[in-house]
Amino acid sequence: MKKEKYQVGLQTIRSLTENEFDLVSVMSTISCELYHAFEPFIWVGFYRLVDKTTLKVGPYQGTHGCLTINLDKGVCGKCVRENAIQIENDVSAIPHHIACSSETKSEIVLPVRDLKSRVRAVLDVDSNTINCFDAIDKEYLTEICALVSPHY
Ligand code: SME
Repeated sequence: MKKEKYQVGLQTIRSLTENEFDLVSVMSTISCELYHAFEPFIWVGFYRLVDKTTLKVGPYQGTHGCLTINLDKGVCGKCVRENAIQIENDVSAIPHHIACSSETKSEIVLPVRDLKSRVRAVLDVDSNTINCFDAIDKEYLTEICALVSPHY
């Protein structure tokens, strides 16, 4: 079920953004499609790397997200520091989690890289269920993040 939803969602995102050149429009479309496709996703959005130490919120769907994240904080900051996907399937078990909502039980954060493989943003997906994220999410969300790369 999850795989099929991602296949439909990826195809929808591709067709909606194929002739789009604007970065914010692409990020907004990805956030919208993912948020509405998966019921457990309660926050879907991007944080942009605006300088060497700071992430600022970008296009997102869900309740308000914190506007600024310093790279030494949160799952998002760790994703940038390590340049690696972070899956936290029980956020209550990790001290460095930043809780923008008390509803969040698990989270996946992926680096968004430009065509020179430099990290430029992260895609953050929060779920209201424990153990929500697995290899299927990693595979398809990685492919979706790659759709952003050419727009930097
Ligand atoms: N949970 C993230 C912060 C962003 S809010 O979830 C939208 C973190 O720990 O970096």
